[in-house]
Amino acid sequence: MEQLVIKGNVRLNGEVSISGAKNAALAILPAAILSNDVCVIENVPCVNDIKILLQSMEQLGVLIQYIDEHKVKIDSRNIHNLKIDYDYIKKIRASYYLLGALLGKYKEAEVALPGGCNIGSRPIDQHIKGFEALGANVDVMHGMIVAKASQLIGTNIFLDVVSVGATINIMLAAVLASGTTTIENAAKEPHIVDVANFLNSMGADIKGAGTDVIKINGVKELHGAEYMIIPDQIEAGTYMVAGAITGGDVTVTNIIPKHMEAISAKLSEMGVVIEEYDEAIRVIANEPLKNIHVKTLPYPGFPTDMQPQMTAILSKTSGTSIMTESIFENRFSYTNELNRMGANIKVEGNTAVIEGVAQLTGAEVSAPDLRAGAGIVLAALAAKGETTITGVEYIDRGYEHLENKLRGIGANVYRVLDKADKSIFKVV
Ligand code: EPZ
Repeated sequence: MEQLVIKGNVRLNGEVSISGAKNAALAILPAAILSNDVCVIENVPCVNDIKILLQSMEQLGVLIQYIDEHKVKIDSRNIHNLKIDYDYIKKIRASYYLLGALLGKYKEAEVALPGGCNIGSRPIDQHIKGFEALGANVDVMHGMIVAKASQLIGTNIFLDVVSVGATINIMLAAVLASGTTTIENAAKEPHIVDVANFLNSMGADIKGAGTDVIKINGVKELHGAEYMIIPDQIEAGTYMVAGAITGGDVTVTNIIPKHMEAISAKLSEMGVVIEEYDEAIRVIANEPLKNIHVKTLPYPGFPTDMQPQMTAILSKTSGTSIMTESIFENRFSYTNELNRMGANIKVEGNTAVIEGVAQLTGAEVSAPDLRAGAGIVLAALAAKGETTITGVEYIDRGYEHLENKLRGIGANVYRVLDKADKSIFKVV
């Protein structure tokens, strides 16, 4: 079982380049199958979720060719299967975007119903409501969602909850529908805009992405396109916190600073110096960190995907901080692991009360999910002594070359194959 071993309490210093956005890529790659031609997607992050998604697309008959590590050619001209099995869904929930894309193009799709996951129950009722409003019949049979339509017709859809996944899936299904679809109470995350921009680059007609009303005028067909995915907001935020939690001086490059505003504002409130450049942010932490309160919200609010990383740094301030999670019901399980590292966090319902401590200490801990894993890695970077982290497979789902990037800014981090042999160093 692979583990990360981190010798912490080292001030991080230097530049780290941010990869393409995982959650944008998870939607843009399936969106490419809506075209009747070949698409070339650049800045695709080299993370496990993407590798699994591309394998599931191959199962449909899509030809996938890696031009280089981050550039993928997608040829959807010979799709012969409209069914995605549970094997893929259980590994990555986001293969549900194939439902919207296949339904949009072929008016038919069959995708295994995703279950809950480690951060909560995660229903998809809003996706289904959208497909049905467009005219599809959606049934759940033998664990599969089966969606079929004789035709898809544009309509008004008001989302009962602001959902990133439902907003994207409805855009995918509506782009080739006849007439106009309006999504109200739409999510506004940067990757929603990225997916809309990609679809528009293939000839779609989508307006308003990035606001809470998106209008999709259906078009007859989509052509091939070349497209570059935006940088990963959450990966960037994670490295910003890495600089701040270690009292370091770290510049994240290849980013869109506008996407980072909620995170920059909170770090600034804690006393961290934030310098913004055109495509970079420098984080300098010389002063003791102040306690603050944070609430996760849909974009442009503070992202839930940065909640564990922020909790990790708040555990090192000089006072009491409150973290309120308003998006997912079960996103605090990692706090037990942070407490084993000397943190003092009490969770009640959707709130964590974090009493800052002077020093975290290394321990043997386990990552329960992707972002929780990132939070634990950050705590380990600041902790005195050695931390061994299991559950690395979760972290590999969303962070490209994590240890290489961390080592590039001075961290002492190794991947070992098992606890007994810390000398086996696996370069990824
Ligand atoms: C996306 O998940 C991201 N995943 C998540 O990133 C992220 O945490 C989340 O958005 C919120 O920003 C991808 O983009 C692949 P939602 P998604 O639909 O689309 C409720 C990571 O670590 N809801 O915006 O599944 C839902 O339960 C991950 O990278 C319904 O009730 O999230 C939640 O409370 C994990 N019915 C809220 O809405 C629905 O039909 C927001 O979920 C859909 C959602």
